[in-house]
Amino acid sequence: MEKFIKNILVTGGAGFIGSHTLITLLENGYRLIILDSLVNSSETVIKRVLNLSNLHDKKRESMAIFIKGDVRDQKLLINIFETYTNSLQSIVAVVHFAGLKSVFESTKFPLQYWDSNVSGTINLLKIMERFNCLNFVFSSSATIYGTNNKNLLIKENDVINPINPYGQTKDVIERILNNLISEKNKKWSIAILRYFNPTGAHKSGLIGENSKGFPNNLMPIINKVAFREIKELEIFGNDWNTPDGTGVRDYIHVMDLAEGHLLALEYILDKNNKSNFIKLNLGTGTGTSVLELVDTFSRVNDVEIPYKFSARRDGDVSYSVADISQAKSKINWNPKRNLKEMCRDSWNSYKKQKDYKFRKLH
Ligand code: NAD
Ligand code: UD1
Repeated sequence: MEKFIKNILVTGGAGFIGSHTLITLLENGYRLIILDSLVNSSETVIKRVLNLSNLHDKKRESMAIFIKGDVRDQKLLINIFETYTNSLQSIVAVVHFAGLKSVFESTKFPLQYWDSNVSGTINLLKIMERFNCLNFVFSSSATIYGTNNKNLLIKENDVINPINPYGQTKDVIERILNNLISEKNKKWSIAILRYFNPTGAHKSGLIGENSKGFPNNLMPIINKVAFREIKELEIFGNDWNTPDGTGVRDYIHVMDLAEGHLLALEYILDKNNKSNFIKLNLGTGTGTSVLELVDTFSRVNDVEIPYKFSARRDGDVSYSVADISQAKSKINWNPKRNLKEMCRDSWNSYKKQKDYKFRKLH
């Protein structure tokens, strides 16, 4: 008899965090239906994930199905659920990464952000409900905590006060998910995961952080400086209330995040668990300043990172570090990879992608 394999719909699976999570889910025996519009990624990523997943050729085709499409496309979603809903094969859960993620862009194009993130999620939840698929893992962000200049670890029940459209879309989606949980007649199980600063890459270097357009986040910019595509790093402020005056963040390796998704998914699928709603910070609980990150990156990778100080960036906070005791106790998650590994894996992946593009062009 065929072993019962669980089908999971992964939206945004070709993106940075999604692609790394695909590997962990495949390694743990899930069959994946991957939906991505490729607005910020490429299909090559899916091919590489399959190659990395140590499944043999025939099995790969049946264990991961890629569909190019948008979560706002109702007809497509209905079609996906119809195709994969029968007694052996229903979709048991959705891991929802799809969405737009640039704070800066969200201030320029707020309607696109509300449409893709909020309308997209509502659309998906409606179709899930119609097909009685009520298990949902959602990508939220530390950005929802807004301005926190107290230099204290952030707990899940701290004040939510996002100060940009991107963060506001995440907050609104969290509120919608709260509403679903308080519906008396439905049996939703939901995990909200609030990521702090995802970085690093799979150790192969074959996948990584490959956003289209110019990056805004620190690690991708450091990679560009190391590769000499940018002359120097601009450090936004050296007058913050932190030990060396530069901003402190909680960098978390993307493979640790991937494992957090697996554990959160298994938690909500296990109906013996006490709660059907978890909201968890995913970080390491350790703060690193911009100067510390630059120093570690230079030493681990033996490259120079020239920098200069400039004015503070609008919307920045001095300190954003997670209290991760809830994730540890509720889903037994313990991030294992340190800052050195984040810097090494990030640079390894960046160089490999560049080398690959170079070879394609020449
Ligand atoms: P990403 O841009 O690399 O991945 C998102 C994927 O979703 C991309 O492949 C993109 O093509 C796809 N997508 C976007 N809109 C879509 C739509 N309407 N329909 C279908 N596919 C769509 O981003 P990421 O870093 O992997 O982030 C994944 C999720 O985590 C996002 O929701 C993001 O907001 C959230 N998040 C990311 C970070 C971070 O720093 N990377 C931090 C906190 C939260
Ligand atoms: C940013 C987003 C946040 C999002 C998070 C993870 C803003 C205002 N906030 O936060 O919503 O959840 O990314 O995706 O964009 N830095 C420099 N020079 C640079 C880039 C960054 O000095 O060129 C500094 C920043 O000031 C900050 C630290 O590096 O102190 C980390 O920055 P970044 O990677 O953008 O992450 P966040 O600021 O946490």
